[in-house]
Amino acid sequence: MDKAVLAVGVLLIVVLSKLKSLLVAKPKLNLPPGPWALPWIGSIHHVVMSSPLIYRAMRDLARKHGPLMMLHLGEVRTLVVSSPEAAQEIMKTHDVTFADRHMNATVGVLTFNGTDLVFGSYGERWRQLRKVVVLELLSVARVQSFRRIREDETARLVQKLAASARAGATVNLSKMISMFVNDTFVRESIGSRCKYQDEYLDAFHTAVRQTSALTLADLFPSSRLMQILGTAPRKALECRNRITRILNQIISETMEAMDKQGDQTAQQVEGLLGVLLRIQKEASMPIPLTNDTIVALMFDLFGAGSDTSSTTLTWIMTELIRNPAVMAKAQAEVRDAFKGKTAITEDDLATADVRYLKLVIKEALRLHCPVPLLLPRQCRETCQVMGYDIPKGTSVLINVWAICRDPKYWEDAEQFKPERFEKSNLDYKGTNFEFLPFGSGRRMCPGANLGVANMELALASLLYHFDWKLPSGVEPKDVDVWEALGLIASKKQDLILHPVTRFAPANA
Ligand code: HEM
Repeated sequence: MDKAVLAVGVLLIVVLSKLKSLLVAKPKLNLPPGPWALPWIGSIHHVVMSSPLIYRAMRDLARKHGPLMMLHLGEVRTLVVSSPEAAQEIMKTHDVTFADRHMNATVGVLTFNGTDLVFGSYGERWRQLRKVVVLELLSVARVQSFRRIREDETARLVQKLAASARAGATVNLSKMISMFVNDTFVRESIGSRCKYQDEYLDAFHTAVRQTSALTLADLFPSSRLMQILGTAPRKALECRNRITRILNQIISETMEAMDKQGDQTAQQVEGLLGVLLRIQKEASMPIPLTNDTIVALMFDLFGAGSDTSSTTLTWIMTELIRNPAVMAKAQAEVRDAFKGKTAITEDDLATADVRYLKLVIKEALRLHCPVPLLLPRQCRETCQVMGYDIPKGTSVLINVWAICRDPKYWEDAEQFKPERFEKSNLDYKGTNFEFLPFGSGRRMCPGANLGVANMELALASLLYHFDWKLPSGVEPKDVDVWEALGLIASKKQDLILHPVTRFAPANA
């Protein structure tokens, strides 16, 4: 008797819950197509089986499923955008709707829970931080004010290379470029060399490694078990604590130096940090610029500004050595423009006609987009894009790497041909949706000027002063072009070359 009552009760509950779900059923969404999904892991197997490099895997999948493709990466509904038209819809037509960043657990830890600029939610705080960064830190005038630093660091790089050339040695150009960009950026940031630089770089790179792969905690954000099993957020927290400690130390030392020397130092070597501390003192911002906010901003700027430029410069030299005719043309241009000089300055560069050099940089940014999926965005309100419904909360990846290599938009798309930009008006402003190395719309990169400035003089100098040879037995076609895992598509294998001095630098 008891059993019969129980059975009827259970039946009633099932029928009622079915009825409720029918009555309150939401209209079925017309989601973009995507590969078939498995329970729990969703479409992860499609991504990891195709290529360890997620943007390559997503390009292959998009060829089957289209330029707006929905994936389920564990619990995370992810829209992958793979054509200029679709990118324009997201970053222009619906720019405000997609102006949030998607933040996973690991990135959340690293970005102080999104209280920074790069991963901050779209809103008043983000707007104020972005305004300071655009108007005060990365303006054309500020970037120019760092030109002596760039000249100085370029001269050091050239001297080191000349010494290796004299010894007939090969150099690890990837490492040398990375050191050059880091040294330059640190001086631009704090106005001088920094004794904590190595310690900071170690913590920073360990932190970045935690974001390089799909991790358990990030794929299953609602699962407590996965949060416990996933180690990435915990490791990221350790790094973030080290980074915070170092940056706080630098802040207090910089404040002390500013107080001691008054306005004079601020005028002489006002690095990005000095500017922020001055604004903090003036208390002129509508939101308080606390030390914690300054730490978050400095972490952002270093993260966004250093590896992007060194990666690009390394790819440029890689493509030049693989394409001897392009190398010869670029060298002929700079050697003609700066004939007789023992060092090139930024003033020289500004007045010379080095058009081809600029095309070389552009072509490297096309073929090797340093941030291949841009930084993930998030849909703020359910909306319709190209006839499909995109639910609120969907994470959005724009595969600019795939777009920049799509033969539909680029002739000989896989070839390194700077000439392709000769007659085009494609620039870095994010208005040509087939070429978006710096992104587009409200969240586009505010650091393009500084990023390019940190590469241009060094590149001109590398090409002017040196001929470049491969180690014996290696042919140009053997130089590999595989990328390492990570948010930034750096070259997997270091570039090893042999510099031969052509025009000796001053004091060599
Ligand atoms: C070759 C050099 C660089 C490249 C290729 C690059 C690329 C990018 C890309 C693709 C984004 C995401 C844009 C989007 O989501 O639409 C971005 C964001 C950002 N970049 Fe850069 N970047 C470079 C240099 C720099 C430099 C030197 C700085 C500053 C020191 C910088 C600061 C930022 C910031 C703050 C953001 C976040 C903007 C926001 O979310 O509002 N970048 N960058």
